[in-house]
Amino acid sequence: MAKLIFDNSEEEVIIADGSDIIEACEEQGVPFACTEGVCGTCVIEVTEGMENTSPFTQEEKDFLGEQDKERLACQCKILGGCVRINF
Ligand code: FES
Repeated sequence: MAKLIFDNSEEEVIIADGSDIIEACEEQGVPFACTEGVCGTCVIEVTEGMENTSPFTQEEKDFLGEQDKERLACQCKILGGCVRINF
């Protein structure tokens, strides 16, 4: 199982390895619109554990450009371990 921690609330959510993070993020108040990686509404910052997330999708590369700390929550999966995010 993997742990997603929200920096702003310190809430911790346990989800299965390899899961989409969209549902957990939505429950914590991350806004979503297209859910297809196009609009950029769901941009989050990964503050720890980027190595535990799925590779950047083409949509993320197109929208975000530089692959640094930002991810699109509708595109990102957690692979295992612990990931901290902020939004
Ligand atoms: S909801 Fe549109 S990019 Fe994620």
